[in-house]
Amino acid sequence: MTLYGVGLGPGQADLVTVRGKRALEDADVVYSPGRLSRSVATEHVPEARIGDLDFPMTRDEEKLRAAWKEAAAEIATTAREGDAAFVTLGDPNVYSTFGHLRRTLAAFHPEVDLEVVPGVSAVTAFATALGVEVTAGASLALREADAGQSPTGPDRMVLFKVTDAPATHAGLVEAGYDVTYGRRLFMEQGETLVTDDPSELDERDYYTLAYAERPDARVEQATDAFLEASDESGLVSDGGDYASDPLVRQERSESALCGDEVDR
Ligand SMILES: C[S@@+](CC[C@H](N)C(=O)[O-])C[C@H]1O[C@@H](n2cnc3c(N)ncnc32)[C@H](O)[C@@H]1O
Repeated sequence: MTLYGVGLGPGQADLVTVRGKRALEDADVVYSPGRLSRSVATEHVPEARIGDLDFPMTRDEEKLRAAWKEAAAEIATTAREGDAAFVTLGDPNVYSTFGHLRRTLAAFHPEVDLEVVPGVSAVTAFATALGVEVTAGASLALREADAGQSPTGPDRMVLFKVTDAPATHAGLVEAGYDVTYGRRLFMEQGETLVTDDPSELDERDYYTLAYAERPDARVEQATDAFLEASDESGLVSDGGDYASDPLVRQERSESALCGDEVDR
């Protein structure tokens, strides 16, 4: 039968997709690789249908391969007779343990059918949580900033694994970035924090990301004209016609490129 790789989203149970919820409800066993993903999964399926997998906290690749072989063997046994699900926080194909499982199954249990249900990833959820708009025409890079690293280069970066925010911050500011941090965004477990002050993040927490942007990276938008035309009360008083504005035309063509077509 089938193994469903189900993305649970960032951590709040109601950010699981409808399709993901259905896959969890229909699976004979729902495997979870960790405590947090387990706590989200149990909002949708009874504890009795959760299968825990044991992964050693090690960077020893031999030990990791042995653990994944064991996990894949157990999951393959379930998936041979019924449906199984393997859950991950965020999206299964973004910086996820699911990749190890997929590769191990392909090598040792190629008979298992696989279907992936995408989830809301921290790569996109950060924008809403931090009040950031990634506008059409903007580029955005994903990097890791483990152990105080400060990658630089792109105009805008989402940084995962910010485990030493003060050290990462120093490097990013030195390179000219404005930086905002998000901890435990859209998570039920632990406290959500959004800040641009790294001293508030002294305590290490793996579920911390950063958004770094060069101040001059903003891409002008057609609708900026509304803000420029607004009076002190924030209202546009001239009922302006912006249709002939070249920026309006540019935004229309950009939105068409994004599959977000303007009906005109
Ligand atoms: C190994 S990656 C997993 C990404 C996940 N598969 C996804 O698509 O969101 C883990 C990193 O993602 C970031 N992250 C994941 N969920 C988060 C959340 N709810 N709030 C803040 N950061 C989060 C953190 O930087 C963390 O170190």
